[in-house]
Amino acid sequence: MMPTATLTLFLIFLTLGFHHVRSNTLTPESLPSSPPEQPHRTAFHFQPPQNWMNDPNGPMYYNGLYHLFYQYNPSGPLFAEHMYWAHSVSHDLINWTPLDIAIAPAEPFDLISCWSGSATILPGNKPVMLYTGIDSENRQVQNLIEPKNLSDPYLREWVKYTGNPVINLPDGIQHDDFRDPTTAWLADDGKWRIIVGSQKDKKGIAFLYQSEDFVNWSMHESPLHEVAGTGIWECPDFFPVWVDSTNGVDTSVMNSRVKHVLKVGLFDYQKDYYMIGDYNFVNENYVPQNELTLGTLRYDYGKYYASKSFFDPVKNRRILLAWVNESDSQADDVAKGWSGVHSFPRSIWLDKKQKQLVQWPIKEIETLYENEATVQNKNLEDGSSHEILGITAWQVDVKLSFKLNNLEEAEKLDPSGVDPQLVCSEMDASKKGKFGPFGLLALASHDLTEQTAIFFRVFQNNGRYIVLMCSDQSRSSTRNGLDKTTYGAFVDIDPQQDEISLRTLIDHSIVESFGGGGKTCITARVYPTLAIKDEAHLFAFNNGTESVLITELSAWSVKKARINTEENVGRASQ
Ligand SMILES: *[C@@H]1O[C@H](CO)[C@@H](O)[C@H](O)[C@H]1NC(C)=O
Ligand SMILES: *[C@@H]1O[C@H](CO)[C@@H](O)[C@H](O)[C@H]1NC(C)=O
Ligand SMILES: *[C@@H]1O[C@H](CO)[C@@H](O)[C@H](O)[C@H]1NC(C)=O
Ligand SMILES: *[C@@H]1O[C@H](CO)[C@@H](O)[C@H](O)[C@H]1NC(C)=O
Repeated sequence: MMPTATLTLFLIFLTLGFHHVRSNTLTPESLPSSPPEQPHRTAFHFQPPQNWMNDPNGPMYYNGLYHLFYQYNPSGPLFAEHMYWAHSVSHDLINWTPLDIAIAPAEPFDLISCWSGSATILPGNKPVMLYTGIDSENRQVQNLIEPKNLSDPYLREWVKYTGNPVINLPDGIQHDDFRDPTTAWLADDGKWRIIVGSQKDKKGIAFLYQSEDFVNWSMHESPLHEVAGTGIWECPDFFPVWVDSTNGVDTSVMNSRVKHVLKVGLFDYQKDYYMIGDYNFVNENYVPQNELTLGTLRYDYGKYYASKSFFDPVKNRRILLAWVNESDSQADDVAKGWSGVHSFPRSIWLDKKQKQLVQWPIKEIETLYENEATVQNKNLEDGSSHEILGITAWQVDVKLSFKLNNLEEAEKLDPSGVDPQLVCSEMDASKKGKFGPFGLLALASHDLTEQTAIFFRVFQNNGRYIVLMCSDQSRSSTRNGLDKTTYGAFVDIDPQQDEISLRTLIDHSIVESFGGGGKTCITARVYPTLAIKDEAHLFAFNNGTESVLITELSAWSVKKARINTEENVGRASQ
């Protein structure tokens, strides 16, 4: 815990050393009413009422409420030089009440922009946040901020520490290569640690800093980790996971029952990668069991970036959020008046085999469920499909499992050196195989002109079975000028032992899929023109020559959540 003397010093800083944020406020009263009904605005995914949004920032639980901040441009639907932290609170991570802007560019240490950062709850239940400022000299520096009034249940106002920046640009690092401080962890030696993303000569770096008082930070002699050739690391995240439980772990826990995850966003590739390894704070040694390479582990093999996790002490879980950007054009975004959504919150834990993480939509989604549709033991022959009726196909959560027989008939594929995304785009949903494609046709028009196909193929290689999962956007919209990249990844399951399961959250323009119980996740953005509202359909399908059995299927219509809407203002206290 924090030594008494430094804690006292820190409290003095808290009372004297901060001054008010000059903020361009987004008051609930001045919230614009949502633009006219738009078919691609989401119903249960987090977005602001309008304008540009990107990274989730500083998610935390504090005194009965979840807080979520996010990168926001209050002036329009495109990314801008001056970025702000917008702020919302929630009781359930589903319905969100918008509050005033929490951090705005104003001081020499953040005059140009306020970029991403993280929250830490200090001993005595005091939340603080570190964020990246782009200073008046256009340098990236790290700043400290704290709530003005801890008795305000909403923590509406935040004050910047007058001693900012607390961490300056290191020598030899370019002015725009130093950002995104993590949640801090505290070791038995009484020192807090954070990492900050950077690069030097294309070597991605997680610089490690230590502090006893959260104000005076020193760079450790060696970075926590670095990998040549990967370019700048953004939005790093570093957290423990239990080796023997699906529960979450507080960020400061270090013992033999945990492994440590290091996640980094590769700016050059706009993708989040992670490593699982062992961390020892005594020598500050982090040894990943899988070194970071472009072919390795990702949280999500579709569109999913700048993610951040936090420990939820109420439900004892670690929750993961991410930015999912648009696949339409900037002109489309200007016409819509908004750009960017967040992924549906996911619980995240270490898989039993300890080689990868598992993710699953948080249980609270069930509070939005209405009418359920179920199917059992439905055999799908070659070329057949089964329409899932009785649900709203454009706002739905669907889970199903497939059982396969005669697996020895599977086609051969040697997966070594194979790019699964390339296999998925070459063998899209229209290409017949033996086992596969089978899966779901989401946001499909009645004649299937429009469809987003999330499907599997099963291959064999030397007596082993290989499961490929794809999300094929090539026919997702009749519109041109959209990014319709097909995504794909392998799923580490054995179809001889396990049924092949798929869960997909469909919400107007986002399709989030979880294969193999959450071992492989793929998120896509789509903009159908025909398959909207009641004209959207949902099918289970099989276009492989071998039949597959749906052992179980359940789908639920998902109601619209109250997300940053005017009707929700003032509800946070209920
Ligand atoms: C702090 O917040 C509480 C609860 O909203 C309020 O009663 C109190 O007046 C606030 N204190 C200051 C100094 O604003
Ligand atoms: C800051 O921390 C370093 C390392 O612990 C220490 O050497 C230095 O004296 C501290 N500076 C201040 C102003 O407390
Ligand atoms: C945002 O979308 C564009 C177009 O689809 C894509 O090229 C880019 O990689 C995306 N960025 C992120 C962070 O997902
Ligand atoms: C199934 O395969 C046939 C023949 O390859 C193709 O024409 C059709 O579009 C496929 N169906 C789906 C749903 O992709």
